[in-house]
Amino acid sequence: MKRILVTGANGQLGKTFRAMESTYPGVKFTFAGRDEIDIAQPDSVQMMIALKPDFIINCAAYTQVDKAETDKKSAKLINETGARHLVEAAASADSVLIHYSSDYVYHIKKKGPLKESDPKKPQGIYAKTKWRGDKIVATYKKHIILRTSWVFAEEGANFVNTMIKLGENRDSLNIVDDQWGAPTFTRDLVAATMTIIDTLMLHPGKRYYGTYNYSNEGLVSWYDFATAIFDLKGKKMHLGKTSTAAYNAPAPRPHWSHMSKNKFKKTFKAEIPHWYDALRRCLKAQE
Ligand SMILES: NC(=O)c1ccc[n+]([C@@H]2O[C@H](COP(=O)([O-])OP(=O)(O)OC[C@H]3O[C@@H](n4cnc5c(N)ncnc54)[C@H](OP(=O)(O)O)[C@@H]3O)[C@@H](O)[C@H]2O)c1
Repeated sequence: MKRILVTGANGQLGKTFRAMESTYPGVKFTFAGRDEIDIAQPDSVQMMIALKPDFIINCAAYTQVDKAETDKKSAKLINETGARHLVEAAASADSVLIHYSSDYVYHIKKKGPLKESDPKKPQGIYAKTKWRGDKIVATYKKHIILRTSWVFAEEGANFVNTMIKLGENRDSLNIVDDQWGAPTFTRDLVAATMTIIDTLMLHPGKRYYGTYNYSNEGLVSWYDFATAIFDLKGKKMHLGKTSTAAYNAPAPRPHWSHMSKNKFKKTFKAEIPHWYDALRRCLKAQE
C-alpha cells in the first residue's frame, strides 16, 4: 500500500484530498494541517521524514495574493523556505514531491495558450515567491509541479463562494472582464494528481518528472464565470463589466492565464473536464 502525506491539508485543495480519500482504497493517506506540520519551520523536515511517505503532496502555500504585497516575509517563508524544507524531506525519505504552482508565474502577453516552457515574468510578491518555490522544487529530481489557475471547491475562499455570498444581499455587481483564464475544480485537480501517482507507480523512472499545466478545459473571463455561476444558481443578478485597472487591486493580475494542458493530456493519456461541467458538479455537491 502506498503512503501519501498531504501537507496544507486544511486548505481548499487539501480538504478535497480528504473528501476523496475513500476513492483511493490502495492508499494510506496522512493529512497534516499547519498545526501538525508547519512547512516553514525547520523541524517540519524531520516530521515528514519520520512518516516515510512514498509521495509528499504539498497543498500548503501562502495564497493571499494582495496581502503578500505588505507581508513579503511570510510569503517568502512559506512559498520559498517551505519549498526548501519539502525538498530536503523528500530527498531524505526518497519520496516523490508533488507541488502546486500558479498561472501567475507566467504573466506574459501571448496569442495562444501558455506552455510550460514559456518565459516567466511574475509581477507581484505572491507570484514571485511561487516562481522561486517552483525553481527550488525543480532542483529535486523526483518532483512534479502542477501549475494551476482560478481554483475553486465546494468549501473555501474562492470566486464561486464569493459570488454566492454576494448574491445573498446584492442584485447587481461589476465583474472584471479583461482577465482571461480557466477555472480549476479541486476534485479534478485531485483526480489529475492521483492519475500522475498511478502512472509513476506503474512506470517508476524519471521520464515523467517535471512541470505540467493543469486547469479545467475552456477559456473565460471572470465576468463569463460569474454569469455562469448565477445562471446555474437560478439567481437573477445584473452583471456589469469592469476592468482590471478600475478594480485596482494591490497585487498585479495577469490578463492572460490560458494555459495549454497538452503536455499533461499526452503524457498521462488523460482527459480534462470542461470548466462548465466542473462548476455544475461543484454547485450540485453544495446542495
Ligand atoms: N486558489 C487559487 O485560485 C490558486 C490559483 C493558482 C494556484 N494555486 C495554488 O494551489 C495550491 C493550493 O491552493 P489552495 O487554493 O488550496 O490554497 P488555500 O485554500 O489557501 O490553502 C492553503 C493552505 O496552506 C496552509 N498553510 C499556509 N502556510 C502553511 C505552513 N507554513 N505550513 C503548513 N500549511 C500552511 C494554509 O493554512 P492556514 O489556513 O492556517 O493559513 C491553508 O490551509 C497552492 O500552491 C496555491 O498557490 C491556487
